[in-house]
Amino acid sequence: MVRKMMIAGNWKMNGLSTDGVALAKEVAAAVKAKKRVCEFAVCPPFTILAAVKKALRGAKVALGAQDCHFDEKGAHTGDISPLMLADVGCAYVILGHSERRADHGESNELVCRKAEAAHKAGLKTIICIGETLAQRERGETIDVCSEQILGSVPATATAADTVIAYEPVWAIGTGKTPTAQDVEDVHAAVRKVLAKKIGKAQAGKMRILYGGSVKPANAKELLNLPDVDGALVGGASLKAADFMAIADNAGC
Ligand code: 13P
Repeated sequence: MVRKMMIAGNWKMNGLSTDGVALAKEVAAAVKAKKRVCEFAVCPPFTILAAVKKALRGAKVALGAQDCHFDEKGAHTGDISPLMLADVGCAYVILGHSERRADHGESNELVCRKAEAAHKAGLKTIICIGETLAQRERGETIDVCSEQILGSVPATATAADTVIAYEPVWAIGTGKTPTAQDVEDVHAAVRKVLAKKIGKAQAGKMRILYGGSVKPANAKELLNLPDVDGALVGGASLKAADFMAIADNAGC
């Protein structure tokens, strides 16, 4: 089964026009500098999507956003629609990140509705799942991730329009990571649950990224596992050298 590895940067609420554009230019230059076998994406905040799009011109680096509404337009003050993201040049949108689930009370149902709308607008989704520390300590990791997959991934999702990101909440921004064996076990379990939801063929082709304290030093170990198809990188994606070292160490 050939799945193209993906290295995606989630910039979160970081990046003003000057430093964001500089970062995008550095990533674009580094991706262009040698032949790459992986797909690259950066997901800056809404405010600099257009500027980053311009900075990425000519480089094989996709643009992604970090959230969207489920409506195409209308009375939703402060929200951004999938059509608007497509219009500004996004190919991807991250949905259901644990920070949105926690800060904005996003449910699996809401994430699923957003994903359906994003796909309708021609966007690809990166749907995030992952357990909290308390859930892990209670031995609920697989159950929690399964429930999130079944509830957040549209039944119509395909490997062409959807990427999953497994991000244990306790590993995000903490410098802690699961063992490589734990990561592989969860990814393999997630792929099984995906098969129930969207069929075995699509599940076999769908990419499952790992996210949570991915650094140049652990990229080789965590990203070369059979069911791991790349990384969703937070903090380390804010430095082009670290982001590209992760890609290089993962064989990208
Ligand atoms: P860190 O890489 O900073 O742990 O963040 C991971 C993440 O949340 C990416 O979406």
